[in-house]
Amino acid sequence: MSLCRSPKLCRLVVNMMAICCFLALGLFSSALCRDGEKASELERLQPDFSSDEQRLSLKKSEVSKRSAGLNEQTCTAFPGVESTLPNNTHTFAFKVRTMGSLSLAWVGDGSGVLLVLTTFQVPLFMMRFGQSNLYRSEDYGKTFNDVTHLINHTFIQTEFGIAISPDHSGKVILTGDVSEIGGFRLFRSQDFGLTFIPSDLPFEPLIQMLYNPGDCNALLTLSITLDLWLSEDFGTTWRKIHDSVCLVRWGPKNSIYFTTNYNGSCNEKGMLELRKTADYGRSFQTIATRVYSFVLGGRFVFASIMTGTGTERMIHVSVDGGEVWNMAQLPKVNHEQFYSILAANQDMIFMHVDDPEDSGVGTIYVSDDRGTVFSKSLERHLYTTTGSDTDFTAIASLRGVYMTSILTEDGAVETVITFDQGAKWQTLRRPQNSQCDTETSTNRPNRCRLHLHASYSTTMKINVPMLPLSQPSAVGLILAHGSIGDAESSLLPDVFVSDDGGYTWLLALRGPHHYAILDSGGLLVAVEHTNSPVNQIKFSTDEGQCWHTYNFTSDPFHFSGMDSEPGSRSMNVSLWGYRNDFSKWVVITVDFRKLLTRDCNEGDYVQWLAHSADPSGSNDGCVLGYKETFLRLRKDSVCWNGRDYAVTKQLYPCSCTVDDYHCDFGYYQPMNSSECVEQEELKSRPLEFCLNGTTEQLQTSGYRKIPGDQCEGGFQPDRRETDLRRMCTSNALHPNFLTETGSTNTAVIVMVVIVILLTSAIAGVWLVKKYVCGGRSVRHISHTPITLNIFFFFLSVICSYVFIRFLVHRYSVMRENVEANKIEGVDDIDAHYMETGKAQYNEDSDQDLLE
Ligand SMILES: *[C@@H]1O[C@H](CO)[C@@H](O)[C@H](O)[C@H]1NC(C)=O
Ligand SMILES: *[C@@H]1O[C@H](CO)[C@@H](O)[C@H](O)[C@H]1NC(C)=O
Ligand SMILES: *[C@@H]1O[C@H](CO)[C@@H](O)[C@H](O)[C@H]1NC(C)=O
Ligand SMILES: *[C@@H]1O[C@H](CO)[C@@H](O)[C@H](O)[C@H]1NC(C)=O
Ligand SMILES: *[C@@H]1O[C@H](CO)[C@@H](O)[C@H](O)[C@H]1NC(C)=O
Repeated sequence: MSLCRSPKLCRLVVNMMAICCFLALGLFSSALCRDGEKASELERLQPDFSSDEQRLSLKKSEVSKRSAGLNEQTCTAFPGVESTLPNNTHTFAFKVRTMGSLSLAWVGDGSGVLLVLTTFQVPLFMMRFGQSNLYRSEDYGKTFNDVTHLINHTFIQTEFGIAISPDHSGKVILTGDVSEIGGFRLFRSQDFGLTFIPSDLPFEPLIQMLYNPGDCNALLTLSITLDLWLSEDFGTTWRKIHDSVCLVRWGPKNSIYFTTNYNGSCNEKGMLELRKTADYGRSFQTIATRVYSFVLGGRFVFASIMTGTGTERMIHVSVDGGEVWNMAQLPKVNHEQFYSILAANQDMIFMHVDDPEDSGVGTIYVSDDRGTVFSKSLERHLYTTTGSDTDFTAIASLRGVYMTSILTEDGAVETVITFDQGAKWQTLRRPQNSQCDTETSTNRPNRCRLHLHASYSTTMKINVPMLPLSQPSAVGLILAHGSIGDAESSLLPDVFVSDDGGYTWLLALRGPHHYAILDSGGLLVAVEHTNSPVNQIKFSTDEGQCWHTYNFTSDPFHFSGMDSEPGSRSMNVSLWGYRNDFSKWVVITVDFRKLLTRDCNEGDYVQWLAHSADPSGSNDGCVLGYKETFLRLRKDSVCWNGRDYAVTKQLYPCSCTVDDYHCDFGYYQPMNSSECVEQEELKSRPLEFCLNGTTEQLQTSGYRKIPGDQCEGGFQPDRRETDLRRMCTSNALHPNFLTETGSTNTAVIVMVVIVILLTSAIAGVWLVKKYVCGGRSVRHISHTPITLNIFFFFLSVICSYVFIRFLVHRYSVMRENVEANKIEGVDDIDAHYMETGKAQYNEDSDQDLLE
């Protein structure tokens, strides 16, 4: 899979090569500095550098001819589009230039308040200069006010962004950089960003403020000196509660978990101590030592702990917040492999364990309800070590459904889906309304399957602007990019829709699109993803079968992204972009409310049985021990679900069948079979594990009830865990320090890279200060060619840095802070390592990795 054996070294080498390229490029790009227009033009072309694009552009003319509705013969024109939508389309042009980044944050739920922070910054290592503007909308993005004065025109670093409280109470924190007077200042709002109160921080923050999900007046952050600071009064006063902290997370019930290392740096993984405080830092408890890394997920605490011999580590699990640890029944991994928690809920977790070689694949294991005994769920699961990317996706619109990709024996990437929380996986069926190209269908018919694109494809630079989308309020609905036939050969993915949680799929739109779910699934909208200006939005009121178009502007614009209020209940969707002059951000908000002329009533809904694959069977729809029926909007009903729409469902218990069981520890289910067979490597060995300090022996016929399964009666296979009354230890609390196995090579390269970067940074700062900030124009020095050349050289170095990394039209949507600190599901990117890691840390330490 990957070219490099050692991702760390590889990345460094790539970085150095990139620097050389920047230097070279800089020579040519000096002119760009003086000509913003040209720079922008190049930015726009930048995405085209990938090799696929050449071929893509050949297809472009074909694409533009395609119409939106794929089932035009059965779809009828939507009445009233031209008479209602133009009056409900609002355009707002920002005064700021499009350079730099733009972040959006929705404040509250249903408040319609949207904050936009634009930041232009030139980061040159130690120094930063920049400018931020803050805008606020109260009408779902239709109009904005410049409220930069509320934060006293203070520069807000992009990384700190806008921190929104996860409880929808309207709390907002901006971390301002007032380094010219020395220090950092918080701007805090408790009224949805209407007013801000400034307060100075007694330290320099390293990461964004972390809200306690249980009490949003309590905030945590780390300082650049790795001290842990806490505020209990929404940032007014701060208290330092611990030093030498590496990674910190809020846990349940106001608890704080963090790793610390008194002796050495946070990079000495495997030497860390996992500590916890339940009283806001008044007392601490060490709950594990020799920790490599930890993750909170569902009701579990996971820590990877060195085994004491060599460089191997094991996962330990606690379900009581770290009092009692049990060793997870999972393979050991060495320092080159990783564990990753793919998803966690209150019942169980999905864990990926990397294969020993750098193969890019591993095995998914699913846990029991104690998080201790794991069984194999899926082999050859694609998860690249270098990219830290996996297609693993939890479907929010139907329980038990997860999708991901495997790497088949013949090297193809293939989407598989499970409907019962990982007990069985299957490939996707080809949609009825799609074809497989003739070459593939004749030569390799089993390749004629639907492959869906997620994070892995994005990393591979396949033209996929959005990940699969599903929403809890839009029952059964999934939108995703996909292709049929050989996954890798697909250059121009299409948009597919499933209305039954992934059992069947429909080709909905040709070519890549940005898409959004509005009105709890009653309305889908999409905008084509192209390099040329757009003026059309497509919409569907029948879950993606028929699409209609609306020209939202007569003056097409360069489209950057689409956004609507989180929760998919809105009818307002905002399209962000810029016009041909490249100078201003433009937002066009379309309110679809008037298009749907009536509210939905009882007759618009029908009963729908979820997971119904075989309507004749008595157990049809039974998943994890029960059936669910939902009231769903009829496809042909054109009406408004409304903001208060709530999903209505009824549950019916099922009796147990073999489908309610996972394969037990030591057993697995071969891809094609429904029986659990014993794993070769564990045959004729007693299945013993350590639970709560004593050895348990497992007697099993190979089946174990799926965690959370509520079936009653029926199939009940034999399974017993006997306490052998032998003491055993899970070594979470046994300090036994290991000798260090650092790599000097890496250190040397890091040093070289740092020296190179510093040199150019210092030169850059000097030059920018002297010539750019000093307001001197280039012409002033044109009399002295040598100076000019040197000047151009350095200026172009700076410009190419800036150009490549910072002048791109960056557009990002900030969700509530809860996502950065959430304890359910995949743990997010850890800001700490992103911050400190620029030179010495590698990006593959993505936080969902429990390394
Ligand atoms: C705003 O900023 C200026 C200069 O940075 C400073 O002098 C002034 O005190 C600030 N005002 C407030 C209210 O913070
Ligand atoms: C670091 O840890 C080692 C091993 O436990 C110990 O011998 C040494 O004294 C410690 N160094 C410091 C500065 O605490
Ligand atoms: C909408 O815009 C497209 C070009 O993007 C144009 O071909 C079409 O005629 C327009 N439709 C209307 C009704 O103006
Ligand atoms: C759309 O925005 C308007 C304000 O411009 C707001 O009154 C309305 O409630 C929004 N509609 C929905 C469904 O959120
Ligand atoms: C799946 O089962 C079918 C018959 O049931 C068999 O022909 C096929 O080879 C099996 N495929 C694999 C990958 O085992």
